[in-house]
Amino acid sequence: MKITVLIENSVGVLIPQGLAGEHGLSVWIEHEGHKILFDTGQTGKVVENALRLGVNLKEAEAIVLSHGHYDHTGGLKAVLEFINKPIPVYAHPDIFSLHCVSSPVDRYIGIPFRKEELEGLGANFKWIKKPTEIFPGIWLSGEIPRKTTFEKIDESMYIKEGDKKLPDPILDDMSLFIKTPKGLVVILGCAHSGVINIIEHAKEVTGEEKIFAVIGGTHLGPASSKQLEETLIRLAQMEVSLIAANHCTGLSVASKFREIFGSKFRFATTGEIISV
Ligand SMILES: [Fe+2]
Ligand SMILES: [Fe+2]
Repeated sequence: MKITVLIENSVGVLIPQGLAGEHGLSVWIEHEGHKILFDTGQTGKVVENALRLGVNLKEAEAIVLSHGHYDHTGGLKAVLEFINKPIPVYAHPDIFSLHCVSSPVDRYIGIPFRKEELEGLGANFKWIKKPTEIFPGIWLSGEIPRKTTFEKIDESMYIKEGDKKLPDPILDDMSLFIKTPKGLVVILGCAHSGVINIIEHAKEVTGEEKIFAVIGGTHLGPASSKQLEETLIRLAQMEVSLIAANHCTGLSVASKFREIFGSKFRFATTGEIISV
């Protein structure tokens, strides 16, 4: 299994020149002959990054969207235009909710395209709400049950309904769970439902107890110190072999991870390749 970070907030050293970083996430997954694009970054720069990294997006069998936020879906139009043929797009129907945030600037942060526009470009939406094995051993989480007491949805996020601002449960937040002989690989988008809620759900859905790796955005950067602390404790108890966090994890949380998990932690910058 090979995972290539096509784009995220930063670009590392010792990787091909000319790669772009941007606030967002897109990951290329190759597993047992299947090729999946997980998220599309913010602006479409992912298309050129993929070329520079030797990834042929036209070989994607499916696109998976972790949730509707612009930093994960904004590149979708450019990707579809590049692929230039019909392709299944797995997502939760709430990706088209009017996702907004109140701080630091009150604004719309949802998907910047209409569904029809994307369908016209070849997106064949497959709506997912329940755990679904989209390819053998590759599970899309469905909605994540919110069970822990310490993991909270970012309170600055809301859904706009007419003049009303309703708390946004971000039900569209989904992750991928991939079974490998070493244990489960959990791939996060923004982990708005909480990293531990997601991992516990992964175990339940797949029947696999061993978590080998957690990769992607943890959203612990903006989380409370209590949430961060509890999450670190729980992760340490799980004896995860690899934590390759990035995106909404942020540098101060990343340095905490490094302190606690040592070489089991790596910051998965743009261009990083993770082989399992
Ligand atoms: Fe994000
Ligand atoms: Fe997000």
